[in-house]
Amino acid sequence: MATDTDSLFQPKEAFRRTAHVKSLEEYQRLYRQSLEAPDAFWGEQARQLTWFHPPESIREVNEQAADFAWFVGGKLNVTVNCVDRHAKARPDKAAILWAKNTPGEYETITFRDLAHHVNRLANVLKAHGVRKGDRVIVYLPMIPELVYSLLACARIGAVHSVVFAGFSADSLRERVLDSGAKVVITANEGPRGPKSVATKAITDEALDGLAQVTSVLVARRTPKEVPMREGRDHWLDVEAQKHRGVCPAEWMDAEDPLFILYTSGSTGKPKGVLHTTGGYLVYANTTFRYIFDTQPDDVHFCTADVGWVTGHSYLVYGPLSTGTTTVLFESTPTWPDASRLWQVVDDLKATTLYTAPTALRSLIKEGDSFVTKSSRKSLRLLGSVGEPINPEVWRWFHDVVGEGRCPVVDTWWQTETGGILIAPLPGATPAKPGSATLPFFGVEPVLVDEEGRKLEGNGVSGNLCLARSWPGQARTLYGHHSRFVETYYARFLPLYFTGDGCRRDEDGYYWITGRVDDVLNVSGHRLGTAEVESALVAHEAVAEAAVVGFPHDLKGTGVCAFVTVKPDFLRTPDEKMVGSLREQVRHVIGPIATPDRVVLVSGLPKTRSGKILRRMLRKIAGGETENLGDASTLADPAVLDELLTKGLPPT
Ligand code: WTA
Repeated sequence: MATDTDSLFQPKEAFRRTAHVKSLEEYQRLYRQSLEAPDAFWGEQARQLTWFHPPESIREVNEQAADFAWFVGGKLNVTVNCVDRHAKARPDKAAILWAKNTPGEYETITFRDLAHHVNRLANVLKAHGVRKGDRVIVYLPMIPELVYSLLACARIGAVHSVVFAGFSADSLRERVLDSGAKVVITANEGPRGPKSVATKAITDEALDGLAQVTSVLVARRTPKEVPMREGRDHWLDVEAQKHRGVCPAEWMDAEDPLFILYTSGSTGKPKGVLHTTGGYLVYANTTFRYIFDTQPDDVHFCTADVGWVTGHSYLVYGPLSTGTTTVLFESTPTWPDASRLWQVVDDLKATTLYTAPTALRSLIKEGDSFVTKSSRKSLRLLGSVGEPINPEVWRWFHDVVGEGRCPVVDTWWQTETGGILIAPLPGATPAKPGSATLPFFGVEPVLVDEEGRKLEGNGVSGNLCLARSWPGQARTLYGHHSRFVETYYARFLPLYFTGDGCRRDEDGYYWITGRVDDVLNVSGHRLGTAEVESALVAHEAVAEAAVVGFPHDLKGTGVCAFVTVKPDFLRTPDEKMVGSLREQVRHVIGPIATPDRVVLVSGLPKTRSGKILRRMLRKIAGGETENLGDASTLADPAVLDELLTKGLPPT
């Protein structure tokens, strides 16, 4: 049955003319080839990169051991591909267009400039003892030094681990410890909208008493003075002056690590997802070329922070490896008002815009006039990432932002996948609002039921898995390979399990229905319920906490915490307690994790064996009063009344 959301949006004729793939038939043919002859397909993609020594074999895959190697024997350096070759061919082309926090302030960094900065910073890192294989933590706002830092690490074979500058000192410390980094790169502060993030002060708190970190390099974003610790802290600009802008590129094996990026899982501790050099870069490069349908003079505007994987693959590595100009946006879409993104699009003549449904929802709320007063003539393609896009938000993006002229690519992927796995090809795939549509080349999605039985055919729903390795897949969780095996392979071996639920409709289109594990997707950011719970129980007043998600108009999913308080604290006024608990989570994890609601209760709903009935809490937090499950399984049925009085969302 055709529903409203099933209506097809055909690729635009004008777009199709210059597209890399021009029809659904062509996509289907290439897709089949990529599955039937993967070595030929990926060998061809690898040839888009510059190698010191070409790969000797395309892939060596062992699902049982979760051991994956791509482009085996190949030697390359990421910065030769992202910087040198473009600096040579088109030195004056803009590599980065930096849109500063203050509206109307921009800076252009050409490929020639980029080469200079990256090489100099690479030399600074070397002078601070960083060697091939060493980890470097990057805790920076959206300033050019952030991009330089990633590339400088790659230049000398160091492994970068970016920590989003919205994370707290505790989160930063945890990542510094897990990665074993000796060097941290930060800034004195990071202006963002009307506020400023005290990145240096947070770094100081995170590193308090840690002898492990011997150098902190501080970028000077503003004139603000910050305390500098003698012997450990160094201003980056001062250090850079001491070095030349020439540094040889390290020969890296295709399987040498490129970066670690921490992300939330269903347990309390973030996982250090590790990506390697050759496979990751080939995958970021290939997906970027096809899905954003790159054209020589594109200006790509990805609004994601480089602290997330989207920023890694589609602000830095995808665009720069193809020689595409990339926009680095320091501010937020709603500051000073909801016209900001469109102002940047017009000022920089952005051609492709990649953003998240949560940002779009916050803009829709402000009304169309903020959009329609801008030109947006330069735009030719729109992309969405991070969470399911509501069909009505898709339509707004398509109709209002793109004036019906630009294709919309809804791209599904994960930190662990390195790049996009399911998305339309804009010149070929008819779109359905709300569906990420069809798999990318070489990707074979499989849906399985709870017992791991493969669901064949169309019109089925299940757990989304992937049947074969792709070059961009994560190789391990840093230092915890057994956890890698357990998380992604143990359950449905030999399949990779994504943690997402998914429906394949009658046309074979994929519709992601959201996480099936204890991970919440809050404003497009992954958050483990267990992480928030451990932050809460670390508060002196908390006896127990259970955290669930609930539908939230702007964030997609909101965070609701049910908390029981220790007897000694029962006299604290509720309002004060709630404020203190929200502050606790903010402090331990970061502002993105702050619970939207904290419900103080005298008991959590538990089975007689002590298991918390999260399903019940989820339903109540979402406003359901029916079908809460069998209350008779509750150890104390009386808690249900209290939950229904206090737990339902305020109307
Ligand atoms: C969700 C972000 C629906 C999904 C790139 C996935 C999406 C998680 C989409 C990964 C999309 C991402 N449609 N859901 N287009 N894109 N997701 O690691 O639940 O931050 O598992 O990577 O976001 O989030 P992560």
